Amino acid sequence: KPAPPCTLVIFGATGDLTSRLLVPALYNLARWGLLGDGFSILGIGRSALSAEDLKDQLGEAIRSFVSERGFDEAAWDRVVGKLDYLQGDVSDPALYAEIGRRLDGGAALFYLAVAAPLFGPIVQKLGGAGLAEDAGGFRRVVVEKPFGHDLESAQALNREILAVLREDQVFRMDHFLGKETVQNILAFRFGNGFFEPLWNRDRIDHVQITVAEAVGVERRGTFYDATGAMRDMIPNHLFQLFTLIAMEPPISFAADDVRNKKEEVLAAVRPLDRSSALRNAVRAQYGAGAVGGKLVADYRSEPDVAPDSTTETYAALRLDIDNWRWAGVPFYLRTGKSMIRRDTEIAIRFKEAPLALFRDTAVAAPVANWLVLQIQPDEGITLEFGAKVPGPQVKLDRVSMGFKYRDHFHVDPSTGYETLIYDAMTGDATLYQRADNIEAGWRVVQPILDAWSDGAAPMARYSAGSQGPAEAEALLARDGRAWRSL
Ligand code: BG6
Repeated sequence: KPAPPCTLVIFGATGDLTSRLLVPALYNLARWGLLGDGFSILGIGRSALSAEDLKDQLGEAIRSFVSERGFDEAAWDRVVGKLDYLQGDVSDPALYAEIGRRLDGGAALFYLAVAAPLFGPIVQKLGGAGLAEDAGGFRRVVVEKPFGHDLESAQALNREILAVLREDQVFRMDHFLGKETVQNILAFRFGNGFFEPLWNRDRIDHVQITVAEAVGVERRGTFYDATGAMRDMIPNHLFQLFTLIAMEPPISFAADDVRNKKEEVLAAVRPLDRSSALRNAVRAQYGAGAVGGKLVADYRSEPDVAPDSTTETYAALRLDIDNWRWAGVPFYLRTGKSMIRRDTEIAIRFKEAPLALFRDTAVAAPVANWLVLQIQPDEGITLEFGAKVPGPQVKLDRVSMGFKYRDHFHVDPSTGYETLIYDAMTGDATLYQRADNIEAGWRVVQPILDAWSDGAAPMARYSAGSQGPAEAEALLARDGRAWRSL
């Protein structure tokens, strides 16, 4: 069903996010018949451009996105047919007055594709100009990442936003929730009957959540060096995976039913203090190495990174959930840049059989029961178990059963933003973060950030192109466990 008529007001219309993700996603929505007739874009930017110039710029970007598959002119026309552009300074109230005139009381989705320090001020100005009141059409705001830099700044930003908007008008983005494989965690767990009875401390030994990236900091040195792997990835993207795996079944997929259950998981995470934060978290920075045969320089010599930077490019931690389902089951999380390969996966390790009947038989490879949800790339789900090697001897080998998305579904290349934008236009916030979800994520990691901030915690090293630092191996070895090899 096409989204209801609205104007998408894009702050940062000439920026990278708009051309790389937002506009390709709108193009796909148009192709799928999900952009309503009354859809229009109002781009806001600092550059002196005409609407035609912006249309051309975006047209160039979209053609590089779809080049291989032929271009759907009619769909593109639905995206930019009614595009308008407004040059202005976001700190200038006159800009908002003009936006108000253009909207003329109609529905609007304000999309903040701008630097994080502008989120609060823009929302305030929208409020000041009366643009947040949805007496006519709806008025909603999409806020991109990063949402705050720590717990205090996230709370302050929430206060600033909620002084102007109701919670149901705020759509806090975490693009991991736009990924099909991430949404599929709910489908896999709650649309099927077989694994859920095993999904608890009785049958699960531990869970590993990995978001390994092969890329380095690319052209984002300034942002990344001020942020680090923990802030960039863990309280947001990894916690989405973590909460979807650990949450209780919701009573429905309505936004608050799902978000309440995710909230309960974060609330049950055993709080860290300084000493447990230092013990249960590892930070590391990469040194020179090679990723996929390409030489990678030391992190500190990347453009826009301080030569004496103490920013981590890798973080690993152990979390414990003090609730009925998960007591005694550790969750290990790790993420890093410039690692051996791109690999986002959730691996669930089941307990061993109660009686080791095959103990004394030769085993061709160590047998363990793993369920692996491969989020990206090569999306799929794999179950690993032991099977008898044919022959007169009793010998077990490790085998696996697998489902690959590409074998079953034909999917167009998509950005992951399609569902998220469509949901914001239709008002479904299930895949967006509520104020308390964001704060709860920061609350969990804040003791680690504090413990790391005074320089007392060691900074481990790993070579670009490796599996990560030895200290992260030690974090699991201490518990008699090991990371899966990437
Ligand atoms: C972003 C981070 O939010 O997510 C980046 O700022 C990271 O540093 C990216 O590379 C990862 O997203 P994806 O979709 O490429 O896995």
